[in-house]
Parts: sequence; C-alpha cells; structure tokens
Amino acid sequence: MNYIQLEKLGEGTYATVYKGRSRTTNEIVALKEIHLDAEEGTPSTAIREISLMKELKHVNIVRLHDVIHTETKLVLIFEYCERDLKKYMDAHGDRGALDPLTVRSFMFQLLMGTAFCHENRVLHRDLKPQNLLINRKGELKLGDFGLARAFGVPVNTFSNEVVTLWYRAPDVLLGSRTYSTSIDVWSCGCIFAEMISGVPLFRGRDNNDQLLHIMRIIGTPDERTIRKMAQESPEIQVKQWPRYPKIPFQQILPKASPQAIDLLERLLQFDPAKRLTAAEALQHPYFASAGMSAPSAAAGQPYAMAPPAAMPPPSNYPYQHPQQVYPQQAPPNPQMAAMQQAQAMAQQAPNGYAQYPAGYTR
Ligand SMILES: Nc1ncnc2c1ncn2[C@@H]1O[C@H](COP(=O)(O)OP(=O)(O)O)[C@@H](O)[C@H]1O
Ligand SMILES: [Mg+2]
Repeated sequence: MNYIQLEKLGEGTYATVYKGRSRTTNEIVALKEIHLDAEEGTPSTAIREISLMKELKHVNIVRLHDVIHTETKLVLIFEYCERDLKKYMDAHGDRGALDPLTVRSFMFQLLMGTAFCHENRVLHRDLKPQNLLINRKGELKLGDFGLARAFGVPVNTFSNEVVTLWYRAPDVLLGSRTYSTSIDVWSCGCIFAEMISGVPLFRGRDNNDQLLHIMRIIGTPDERTIRKMAQESPEIQVKQWPRYPKIPFQQILPKASPQAIDLLERLLQFDPAKRLTAAEALQHPYFASAGMSAPSAAAGQPYAMAPPAAMPPPSNYPYQHPQQVYPQQAPPNPQMAAMQQAQAMAQQAPNGYAQYPAGYTR
C-alpha cells in the first residue's frame, strides 16, 4: 500500500479508522479500513459509501481521495480531519457547550453540507456529532456516509432503522418509511441544540422512549397532526400518546439568542412537512450579521426573500472561517452566492442522482 498506517483514530460498526501518511506525497490522510468477510465479499454499505462519496465534492463534505480494494480488506482514503465534533465539544467546550460564534459557524457549515447532499438527491441519514469532522482550519465536514443512499433508485423502501436514536426524527420513530430530506434536518436541529448546551437534547433508551423524550420537550402533537402524518406515510401507526405541553426552548437553552431559538424551533418540527429545508435554514436571520433587521416572514414561511445576509465576522473566532465555502470575488451576499455555487455544482451531478423518486417531497 502506498500509505503508512499510523495511530488509530476511531472505530465503528464496520470499520477501523487510522491516521496515515502517503509514501509519495507525505500527505496525512485518514484510512478507513473495512474488513471483508471472505464469503460475503464487499459489504453493500461500503459500496454505497464509495459511490456516493466519490461524487460529492464540497468543502463541507469529507473528501474521498482513493479506494484500495484487496482480498481481505477495503481501504478508503479520506482527507484527514483533526477530530470529530463530539471530541471537539469535549475538548474545547465549556462542559461540552461551544461559544455562540463557533456554534453559528459550525451550524452554517453543517447546513451547507446537508443542503449540498440534498441538492444531489443524497440523504445522509446518520448525522450526529461523531460523524461530523472538524479540521484544524475550523472547517466542518460531513463524514461516514455508510448509511447514506442516493434516493434515485428504489422508491419509498428505506429501511426503518437508519438514523441513530438520539438524532432520529419522530416520523421515522413512528414507523414512516417514506421519509425524505427532512430526517437530516431534524438531526441538524438536535446537533444545533447540543452544540449550544453541551448535552444531547433527546436521550431516549429505545424507540418509544425516544419519542416520549421528544414529546416531553416539543409537546405531544395534536391528533390532527399525527393523522395527517399517517396519511402521508401509511406505515405510521396512530395511537394514543401521553399529552405533554410544549416547553419553550428558551427555558431549556437559556443561553441561546432569540434567533437561535427561532431557527431551532423551525428545524425541530414534529411534522416533517413543516420543517425548514437545509437551504431555507441557511437563509434564516440567525446567520445574518448582528444588528441586521430580520425579514418579516410569518411563521412557516421560508426565508427565500430574506435581505442580504452577511456571514459571522471572522474576528475573535477560534479559527478563520473556511474560505472555500465562499466565492473568491465576494459579491454583496456571500451566503446566496455560496448556495448558487453549491446548486451549480449539484447540476453537474451524474445522471444517477438527477431523478426525484415519487416519495420525494422537497
Ligand atoms: N477523515 C477522518 N479524519 C479523522 N478522523 C476520522 C476521519 N474519519 C473518521 N474519523 C474518526 O473515526 C470515527 C469512525 O469513523 P466513521 O467514518 O464514522 O466510521 P463508522 O462507520 O465505523 O462509524 C469517527 O467518529 C472519527 O472520530
Ligand atoms: Mg460513524
């Protein structure tokens, strides 16, 4: 192999990840070793990860450089990142909680990477702090697409057990199999709250307990909402739930700004149809510079008409904001331009991603 294996970085379900160095260029990389079962051959999860990752080129998505396939193992060579977000929060946070500017920068990058996936008809399906990587420049990158799948191929038949429990959307917990990009948006909301407070927002033990944890905070949805969700996803079982009132997020996250609370509210909607899209969330006034007036959008309205928004100032940042996210010639609205750039890249995606399946709602 053309890489020298260095220390172990992490371990997961199918793979062990090592730090590595290229013998030719000395470049530091991450080697994700997937051990192959002699009889079963290359696991389908790995094949999915490879085919997806090779196409998804974006500053907020961990770059797959190379794939080495031998008889006994499959090694994916990724760009190296210093640590994952979980470890970052443990090391830099105040008992896990990050400062507001870092939260805003990471949240923006998380949504940029997620919006780019969705533009390319890719669901991540397992967004959580351990699967988000942070490099020394402070760039956040989506990693671990082991469970992702291009949603161009089979329609509406995603397996039920995909998003890790604490970050799993209530529609998935209720049994929906027709879910879409909104499941990743829910996970983004959970990660947002966790970056602010330092602790995971909903920590259920099992499927049912996870739903109860969610309802105890965002309130039990009214029967009309559950019936509507069941109509849209017939696998959802309508049953009686304890009636919990909503607890205002401000009470749970007293340090968060009103705009952060407003964005969180719009991401963590019980009804998937009411959640913002990642692209809409990027237009939220939370990402506009301080002092800029918020758009007069009524509740439930997307922020497509938001006034030009500036990015968080790089001064007093722990790190420089990633340059590549923004175009070289800064136009008046870097956020819009970055989205346009992402969309332009999305349009160059291979044909495999170009079709929306019937269940695709956004
Ligand atoms: N490119 C990378 N750079 C640095 N660390 C990484 C990288 N990729 C993965 N890791 C570390 O290894 C862990 C497991 O990797 P991941 O891709 O999530 O595998 P799994 O599918 O087994 O969960 C991550 O949580 C992270 O801590
Ligand atoms: Mg992982």
